[in-house]
Amino acid sequence: MKDLRNYISIKRITLFSALIVVLFISEGCGESEVFNEVENIQDIIAPLPEYTPVPENNPQTAEKINLGKQLFWDPILSGNKDVACATCHHPEKGYADALDLSIGVNGIGLGEQRRGIVLAKRNANTIINTAYNGIKNDDSYTPQSAPMFWDNRAMSLEEQALLPLLSKEEMRGTAIPENILYDSIINRLNQIEEYKLAFKNVFGEESISMEKVAQAIASFERTIIANNSPFDRYIRGDVNAMNQQQINGMNAFINVGCAECHSGPMFSDFELHTIGVPDNPKLPSTDSGVNTYTFRTPSLRNLPLTAPYMHNGMHASLQEVMNFYEDVAEGDTDDINVHISINDIDPLARQLEMDNDVIDEIIAFIEALDDNNFDKSIPASVPSGLPVGGNIHN
Ligand code: HEC
Ligand code: HEC
Repeated sequence: MKDLRNYISIKRITLFSALIVVLFISEGCGESEVFNEVENIQDIIAPLPEYTPVPENNPQTAEKINLGKQLFWDPILSGNKDVACATCHHPEKGYADALDLSIGVNGIGLGEQRRGIVLAKRNANTIINTAYNGIKNDDSYTPQSAPMFWDNRAMSLEEQALLPLLSKEEMRGTAIPENILYDSIINRLNQIEEYKLAFKNVFGEESISMEKVAQAIASFERTIIANNSPFDRYIRGDVNAMNQQQINGMNAFINVGCAECHSGPMFSDFELHTIGVPDNPKLPSTDSGVNTYTFRTPSLRNLPLTAPYMHNGMHASLQEVMNFYEDVAEGDTDDINVHISINDIDPLARQLEMDNDVIDEIIAFIEALDDNNFDKSIPASVPSGLPVGGNIHN
């Protein structure tokens, strides 16, 4: 990861000049007086690298990415052949699904229109920028151990990719028992000439394995990146990329304490914290995360595309999220999870005091973390001949 370190230090120099200009501009306008300009901002929040980190044991090739894309869109990987990864991670919904809780097996429709009775236990994370999960401001990052899921229970895109297949609610259903699921999927793929050929071309061997399925899907996911938001451009030196309200919001974001957890290039420390989000009443039982209602700090990139928010989609808008933090800071327990007390909440999340102007500025800043220029292409067909993306057409 030497490259990354060099990259960051070069950017620091650019950033430093950018900050001098910012200080200069904001002097006369008086709006940001409440907040001191933050020094060494680049040690706290940072732009994304302009390249995608790839693990040594799974190098990218055009053929592998293409195979991964077919698998991602093909419902052949699901028990009833009705759900694909793309069902819940669809480009038109920011590679998520616009639902509080995902609807997998037996569901019909896309996004807000999707209907079904089997609910996944959590809100779907976006695929965008998962190539960077785990990245920090130092050089400790490796894509082989990138944390995945709201509780960090998988470590790498490769490890993550096979787990939705096993999940009864997401893709497996009840027709195929868990212990023979992978064998049945491999059997199915072996019966499709186009897949047999593609696996052979990509991996140089006849045999199809789940490991290869996972590698191909992970390679495709690493191409879904959005690393050129107004914030990235601003911090790389284009001082006009963010407006004054967003610049104020950036400073407030740090001064108020959001960056204590939402830090680094992804605006996440990728650690687990208790912030006390209430349970989603649609679920039959409480979800206490890893232990005392701890969940991973989510990235704050591309949020305008991926509402609703939190591990269970309980907050519909950024305004609702901000009101929640404000209530917690005031010690108001009406909005927090009934199974915990206010003292169980991470102290860093109990000190976030903001007035309405600051809330507006922080929301404007979060909007400057959005980059809508990612690959949204949808394959015209998939090798199985099944509906592309599963039963998403109403
Ligand atoms: C039924 C909807 C559904 C389907 C189908 C689905 N996912 Fe997901 N995905 C989710 C949900 C819900 C989560 C969060 C689960 C959790 O944290 O416990 C998630 C999380 C993820 C994450 C973690 C991202 C992060 O930032 O931690 C990745 C990567 C991912 N899915 C990829 C895939 C792939 C690859 C497939 C197909 C093999 C797939 N998903 C199929 C709903 C779905
Ligand atoms: C103590 C660490 C911590 C601090 C401080 C913190 N957050 Fe969070 N944030 C989290 C965690 C953890 C979650 C996920 C909680 C859950 O899903 O139950 C979260 C969720 C969010 C979400 C939802 C994102 C999504 O994709 O669902 C937003 C938006 C957000 N935080 C913004 C902020 C802002 C703005 C501040 C400052 C006012 C802030 N956070 C301060 C840890 C923190």
